Amino acid sequence: MSDTALDITLTVNGERVSERVDARKTLVDFLRDDLVLTGSHVGCEHGVCGTCTVRVNGEIVRGCLMLAVQCDGAAVETIEGLSDAGEVADLQAAFVARNALQCGYCTPGMIVAAQDLLKRATDAKSVPSRDDIRAHLSGNYCRCTGYQAIVDAIESVAQDRAKGMKP
Ligand code: FES
Ligand code: FES
Repeated sequence: MSDTALDITLTVNGERVSERVDARKTLVDFLRDDLVLTGSHVGCEHGVCGTCTVRVNGEIVRGCLMLAVQCDGAAVETIEGLSDAGEVADLQAAFVARNALQCGYCTPGMIVAAQDLLKRATDAKSVPSRDDIRAHLSGNYCRCTGYQAIVDAIESVAQDRAKGMKP
């Protein structure tokens, strides 16, 4: 570790974490290397592919474009936290049911991004269209599936969640 290490304290998946980190370390490297939360993947490392997507203070961000030290005092949520809380259980089941993954490398980022869209839609009491889903996932690349099954899976969850909305 360089002499530019800084002490940070943040919440990760609801647990308070205090660590000394290199000032240049990205959030996704911090999550993976220091906290062994390896569900967030590293692909392009420059903000293009979306496989490093996590939530910081409720907003989705690219974990490769944010420094860990920028998260001092923040609440970070990863795919592990969303999964353990059951928040994305229906999305995960739909991805499996519709074969919306092959190698799975993009899948954590896809699920975190999809949940962001579906949560916003629920708050607005609306149901995202296929075009909305494609637009929201336009920053998440998949090299395997051709996207059709991913959109199908998310659309099915959007419709199922909409049935549970109060009029
Ligand atoms: S690794 Fe972060 S966007 Fe590709
Ligand atoms: S399933 Fe392989 S990159 Fe998406």
